Amino acid sequence: MKKFNNLYTDIYGFFILKKNFNKNRVKKIFSLIRVDNTFKTTNPNRMFDVNIILKNYIKKFFSNKINICDLGISSGQSTLELYKELKEKNINYLYGFDKQIFIKIFKFKNLVFLYSLDNNLLMVEYKKYCLRYRYFIFFKQVEKILIYLFKIMKINYYKTDVLVPGLHKINNFKFCEQDIFNMEKKYFNYFDVVRVTNLLNYSYFSRQKIKIAKFYLNKISKENSIILINRTNDKKKNIASIFRKRNGKFELLEDINGGSEIKDIMLSL
Ligand SMILES: C[S@@+](CC[C@H](N)C(=O)[O-])C[C@H]1O[C@@H](n2cnc3c(N)ncnc32)[C@H](O)[C@@H]1O
Repeated sequence: MKKFNNLYTDIYGFFILKKNFNKNRVKKIFSLIRVDNTFKTTNPNRMFDVNIILKNYIKKFFSNKINICDLGISSGQSTLELYKELKEKNINYLYGFDKQIFIKIFKFKNLVFLYSLDNNLLMVEYKKYCLRYRYFIFFKQVEKILIYLFKIMKINYYKTDVLVPGLHKINNFKFCEQDIFNMEKKYFNYFDVVRVTNLLNYSYFSRQKIKIAKFYLNKISKENSIILINRTNDKKKNIASIFRKRNGKFELLEDINGGSEIKDIMLSL
């Protein structure tokens, strides 16, 4: 197993036994949890520069308390950083949405299975090492049968969420599972600020899909709201665009490092 050392994850230790792992280990675990075409990869302080620019626009446009939505929060590490940057006083509610927040963990001898609440297999470990490619695909093909077997064998699961502990301590923070391609109506016309980082990338989703996400971003944002779309590239540079919703459409406020790759979709009618 030595050559697979970088696949040592121990999700049971991290999520259930709450072992204190170092930052690199935590980063590794999240970079291996797969949700559709994306991974839960996140890095501390990866968005400090765009957060400051966003803060300045918030100061400029809003004097009252605002509702903010961070979409695709992963562990919520970068959401917590945004919250600290903005200081509590500006925020009415900070919502963290992600398709995958709650998880179920089954342990059977040396195997650990990580599932979503709707029984999609997200990760499998053998002796604390993450199984990839053909081994994972094998388990993925029988994911529903496995769940059934666990039931018969009376193997119970542990339910938890993937959020960093600091987030739970924030009073005006709410989180829930939401799909950016199919958002609940109760959030329509609700947010003054929406941030989407490292999610709406062409490497993850087709143009067709991104157009659907734009439709929902338009629905959940209020008139005069601010929308930030960002992608952190391989060189840790943030490539972003900031928009404002005017007369129901998105207008460009500012490009950062050349502007978002999905800018044309955001600006289209
Ligand atoms: C690469 S992470 C980005 C984390 C964080 N925003 C950042 O920039 O550090 C992508 C996140 O998007 C979430 N995600 C994937 N598909 C989604 C969907 N359809 N709707 C909402 N969130 C989704 C994943 O679960 C994952 O947590």
